[in-house]
Amino acid sequence: MFQEIEIKTKRIQDQLFCESFKSETKNYKFKFIDLFAGIGGIRMGFEEYGGECVFSSEWDKHAQTTYQINFGEIPYGDITKINAEEIPNFDFLLAGFPCQPFSQAGLKKGFEDTRGTLFFEIARIVEYHKPSVLFLENVRNLASHDNGKTLQVIKKTLEDLGYNVFFKILNAKDFGVPQNRARIYIIGFKDKVEFKFPSELKIDTKLGNILENKVADKYTLSDKLWAGHQRRKAEHKSKGNGFGYSIFDRDSKYTSTISARYYKDGSEILIKQKNLNPRKITPREAARLQGFPDTFKIGVSDTQAYKQFGNSVSVPVIKALAKQIIKTLNL
Ligand SMILES: C[S@@+](CC[C@H](N)C(=O)[O-])C[C@H]1O[C@@H](n2cnc3c(N)ncnc32)[C@H](O)[C@@H]1O
Repeated sequence: MFQEIEIKTKRIQDQLFCESFKSETKNYKFKFIDLFAGIGGIRMGFEEYGGECVFSSEWDKHAQTTYQINFGEIPYGDITKINAEEIPNFDFLLAGFPCQPFSQAGLKKGFEDTRGTLFFEIARIVEYHKPSVLFLENVRNLASHDNGKTLQVIKKTLEDLGYNVFFKILNAKDFGVPQNRARIYIIGFKDKVEFKFPSELKIDTKLGNILENKVADKYTLSDKLWAGHQRRKAEHKSKGNGFGYSIFDRDSKYTSTISARYYKDGSEILIKQKNLNPRKITPREAARLQGFPDTFKIGVSDTQAYKQFGNSVSVPVIKALAKQIIKTLNL
């Protein structure tokens, strides 16, 4: 009971803090909306360069909690239920949307044929509002998904809506983050512009820089789980494929990609320990692995936190892209 009141009071304080923060920093350069918002990783990059968020949508209630404690607002739910007219005017549309195949006629019909997919939700909002910039993020495989057709349909649909479309795969490890995470970024401009994607930053990454010094025992793998990992790896090896767990230490330059399923067994990123079984990374380390600052609050269970950071974006890559977009538009 007391705890509940405490949490509610804390949320009101957070909200007031965000509102006073907003009114103090009124030098906004553009308004944006945050779709498929997750925990707001894309938002963070665009706020840094003068963006004001005027609408957000995310239907997962745990992600909504994280969003609220960090940004002081609860995102609207299911985007398929929101009319474009209900969304206030904005300049940039930001969306890290789930990847789905389009039907066979896709390339011929474009927009109309994306109906029933989440990309269609983006297209219909773009058609109504005609924002000046579109910023879409997706898994690297979107480029080869359905033999390249998915990306072609997206490109054609946005071009038919009047946009100049640019896309490129960028990797988090080239932007100062110790994680090998390649993602595709699709950027559309209503104006005719020459857009250049940001160059790689020449920063040496090292996993040790983001690891916590004191880590609770619960993150160390049990003998049973560790034995299971080793057995599966041996089985994969005997079949000639390289799957199984991946293990790193403080000196590793970067880890493999953290995914939303990390909470299951942590197999994609294990950390070596002296005289102990390897351990999983902690939720705070997962946040750092995505370039979130330590001021970012984690107010959900470990399972939800891993899912949320695994689903999110590498914030420094978003910042580099936001900076380049602002520069291109002379904002
Ligand atoms: C890849 S994640 C995006 C993560 C986000 N870029 C971030 O920084 O955390 C996609 C998100 O879309 C949300 N989603 C999927 N379908 C949705 C819908 N119909 N309405 C609102 N959100 C939806 C999922 O819950 C998920 O959090």
